[in-house]
Amino acid sequence: MPPAMARVSLTGIKPTGTPHLGNFTGAITPALKLADDPGTSSYYFIADYHALTTIHDQTEMRQLVREVAATWLACGLDPEKTVLYCQSDIPEVFELAWVLACFCPKGWMNKAHAYKAMVQKNRDAGQDADDLDAGVGMGLYTYPVLMAADIIIVDADLVPVGKDQIQHVELARDMAQRLNNTYGADVLKLPEAMVQGQDETLPGLDGRKMSKSYGNTLPLFVPAKKLKKAVNQIVTDSTPPEAPKDPASSTVFKIYEKVATPAQIEELRGRYAEGIGWGHAKAALFEVLDAQLSGPRAVYEELMAHPERIDEVLHDGAARVRTTAQAVLGRVREAIGIQR
Ligand code: ADP
Ligand code: TRP
Repeated sequence: MPPAMARVSLTGIKPTGTPHLGNFTGAITPALKLADDPGTSSYYFIADYHALTTIHDQTEMRQLVREVAATWLACGLDPEKTVLYCQSDIPEVFELAWVLACFCPKGWMNKAHAYKAMVQKNRDAGQDADDLDAGVGMGLYTYPVLMAADIIIVDADLVPVGKDQIQHVELARDMAQRLNNTYGADVLKLPEAMVQGQDETLPGLDGRKMSKSYGNTLPLFVPAKKLKKAVNQIVTDSTPPEAPKDPASSTVFKIYEKVATPAQIEELRGRYAEGIGWGHAKAALFEVLDAQLSGPRAVYEELMAHPERIDEVLHDGAARVRTTAQAVLGRVREAIGIQR
């Protein structure tokens, strides 16, 4: 077992869409707070090979990886403190994934959520019982094995994730435990999920959960004009401007609450009670958003105009992680009897 040190926290971000305000309030902000904890050394990486299950356009892949990296840096990730890297730059992950696959019963994968959801979709679409695996690639099927390797390769203690990912972290723990049971309890660290932002779901323009799959997002770093246009698209009801409005049922207010200060929130609540036109409510939201995002947006734009700076951070991060990854893989190889 590695010497007792700071606890290690690791999380992966799949580059499957342009980051939006929901990602910011629900994932980026809490993860950056955690990274600030002096007792934690944190690794945040871009899971590009996980995105390969769905992104099959090379230009889009390259662009999304950079957008995601630039977003984290612009939001305040300090690459000196938090190691930021790309999964594909760590070959040790893929070797460990094979080893873990040999300790992962196939039945565990049959129970994984993403796979089960595909099977259910096929069932609902009336597929024959013998073709319920239609459209399921081995990448999707064995997704949890690669994710386990991501986690275990840095001896992670804590894995901050959304609720939907808890099962994957538990599977990683189970795979590590199986290998330890075979070769000795101290080969692999057993990771634990840490659930963040449970009640933090931010609604999108149409009032449903903000999600790239619903096309209802407020993108984080578009120019101010476009942001204003997007805010103006938030769905409202047809109550007249002078009528008092209920903040609890207003999407504009719910988003405002997640980004404004307590004093600003109380002020807008007062204006809702007095009666406020939706145009004014949206203008208040835009102002707060723009004030918060304009600084990071400038950093983001600067980075995207110089992608070599982003790549440099990622390469530097990869070099730092590989030292740990090689040590962990060395322990594994020794334990299983594969050495050169
Ligand atoms: P999307 O739903 O747009 O596909 P992802 O599933 O890629 O977003 O989510 C990436 C991270 O952002 C996850 O940790 C998730 O919990 C968080 N997240 C996404 N949408 C929201 C939202 N509307 N409110 C809060 N957090 C969100
Ligand atoms: N599966 C995660 C998601 O879909 C992304 C991910 C890949 C990840 N590897 C990871 C998260 C390791 C935490 C740890 O969001």
